[in-house]
Amino acid sequence: MNDFKMQILAGIPEILPEAKPFDPSVNHAPKRKDILDSDEKKLALRNALRYFPVTLHAQLAHEFASELREYGRIYMYRYRPEYEIKARPLSEYPHRSVQAAAIMLMITNNLDNAVAQHPHELITYGGNGAVFQNWAQYRLTMQYLATMTDEQTLVMNSGHPLGLFPSHRDAPRVVVSNGMVIPNYSSQDHWEKFNALGVSQYGQMTAGSYMYIGPQGIVHGTTITVLNAGRRLKDGSEGLSGKLFISSGLGGMSGAQPKAGNIAGVISVIAEVNPKAIRTRHSQGWVDEVYDDMPALISRVRKAKKAGEAVSLAWHGNIVDIWEKFADEELWADLGSDQTSLHNPWAGGYYPAGITFEEAGIMMSADPDKFRLLVKASLRRQVDAINRHTAHGTYFFDYGNAFLLEASRAGADVGDGHGGFRYPSYVQDIMGPLCFDYGFGPFRWVCCSGNPRDLEKTDEIAAGVLTALMKESPVEVHQQMADNIHWIKEAGRNRLVVGSQARILYADAAGRTLIAKAFNDAVSDGTVSAPVVIGRDHHDVSGTDSPFRETSNIYDGSRFTADMAIQNVIGDAFRGATWVSIHNGGGVGWGEVINGGFGMLLDGSPEAERRLKSMLLWDVNNGIARRSWARNSEAVFAIRREMARTPGLVVTMPSLADDNLISEALD
Ligand SMILES: NC(=O)c1ccc[n+]([C@@H]2O[C@H](COP(=O)([O-])OP(=O)(O)OC[C@H]3O[C@@H](n4cnc5c(N)ncnc54)[C@H](O)[C@@H]3O)[C@@H](O)[C@H]2O)c1
Repeated sequence: MNDFKMQILAGIPEILPEAKPFDPSVNHAPKRKDILDSDEKKLALRNALRYFPVTLHAQLAHEFASELREYGRIYMYRYRPEYEIKARPLSEYPHRSVQAAAIMLMITNNLDNAVAQHPHELITYGGNGAVFQNWAQYRLTMQYLATMTDEQTLVMNSGHPLGLFPSHRDAPRVVVSNGMVIPNYSSQDHWEKFNALGVSQYGQMTAGSYMYIGPQGIVHGTTITVLNAGRRLKDGSEGLSGKLFISSGLGGMSGAQPKAGNIAGVISVIAEVNPKAIRTRHSQGWVDEVYDDMPALISRVRKAKKAGEAVSLAWHGNIVDIWEKFADEELWADLGSDQTSLHNPWAGGYYPAGITFEEAGIMMSADPDKFRLLVKASLRRQVDAINRHTAHGTYFFDYGNAFLLEASRAGADVGDGHGGFRYPSYVQDIMGPLCFDYGFGPFRWVCCSGNPRDLEKTDEIAAGVLTALMKESPVEVHQQMADNIHWIKEAGRNRLVVGSQARILYADAAGRTLIAKAFNDAVSDGTVSAPVVIGRDHHDVSGTDSPFRETSNIYDGSRFTADMAIQNVIGDAFRGATWVSIHNGGGVGWGEVINGGFGMLLDGSPEAERRLKSMLLWDVNNGIARRSWARNSEAVFAIRREMARTPGLVVTMPSLADDNLISEALD
């Protein structure tokens, strides 16, 4: 047995591993604020030590106490494994269950140095989207997965593996919940405290559900969003050539913006304060040019506008400077958004204008009150400048990062005068009515062989299925299908893979099911050389209740409820998902959203075909049925169509009341 397998099977080793020196070449999480009182610090230490035999406590207690002091969390750096963490072919993982091996592949991909945002702090993206809270949890989980059978289920509570429980072959191998707390204890500070105590974590969406596939997932969604935002411009011009798109962030998801901008054909200017994030995206070829000189940037933008060039430009500095300086120069944006991590405004998600990146890094933990004031003032400035642009026709949209929410809380001028926001969220205007209400959402897959040729094969299969399906689809969904067929045909050429051999496209229930079945057949007949994992992110029709994002286009008053997301994960679990997850938070922030996800292994077997058909039908139509009940006309159309073709599907349909009658009755 090789060393990799032995290390996994050893779990938490009995002998203390070598200490791991802090590696400055890796992007690290910012120091978290000191939120525990002295009794709570004792509790945090006691909690951390329960993973280890008493014989090691004397040494580890001091080490963990110093991590808590230094970083605000106990990551247990010493227990980071010696081997390189990355997705490997299934056969390289020690296993008794192939399904469990596939989950190991997905976990190790989420923590790959080339994929994760802060890999040593086990953060995959979004500043705080964690796979585990500490390295002991990682080691124990991998050991459980390596030894479990298809008649057991592993229970994961916020990164902590509670243990293996007897179940059955059709049950999920892993059930994940992240950050689920009693609703009254769901403020940002509660998260800081519970996380510092080692009892809860923010799993974001695809971080804590092991479904992150690098920024590619988001390049696709961003391309679709920018294309459709462009279609909303009412300036009479055709296409996006020469149009200017301004936004911020070159991080985990936001880093997709320049790449998507190029694919959509715009000039994008993306501000980023963190030099490491800029270097990463520039060296990957995801952003074309980097500027830290404003006049040079402005003249480059003018030149690109004149030539109608599709080019992506990074601004090394604060986004507030871009909005303000471009307005002063009357260089108006056509499209605008923001992708700072405002779901996490006080701990590194948003860097305020007027101080340096380094100063902000110190101030957020040394003087959190002052930092808060600066963030709020910066948001007010940013909104004032954006308002100058939109007065000249810019189409500005909130990108699901809680920008409008936090800006309004900061007292910025974003109100519409009727209790709402003056700008739409991208879901209200674009993704909701054009995609989610019709059941279009993020279908993603990973080829477990790790072989790029398998990915090419699956791209071809998916393009073939969608092209055939489009011929018999109603005109209402043609634009979405055409955009996705174009995307998948170009995907290989755009070289989007970072980490595992993965792909994403948007499809509706019929599309997802037919593609998955075709993959299963291809695994069965050897066209594809190893099993394929399918899943999705949570930016979707059914899995997520998020009133400021996925469900922001629900207008029957139910957008602050979370029954849909909970029903979704329960339904996926008993219809055959290989693993399921449910999270508090994700995207918009802790306490602001409940979202669930799934993963499913297609191993070419008839059982996999039965499961995929049963689960995908539910996983999409649950949300369409809810959106239809909320009277969204596109969803009413889509669920009627689904009922016509699916025996046994009977959905409660809404009656539409006359508005005059309602006013009369209340008068
Ligand atoms: N792309 C999408 O489709 C999508 C969808 C939903 C939500 N989001 C949200 O977008 C946000 C960003 O996600 P991410 O994974 O890229 O997070 P991230 O933390 O990896 O990246 C955000 C980047 O913004 C930079 N930044 C912060 N303040 C800045 C400022 N004032 N000026 C310039 N740069 C600044 C940070 O340095 C960081 O690199 C999150 O809130 C996420 O939930 C994105």
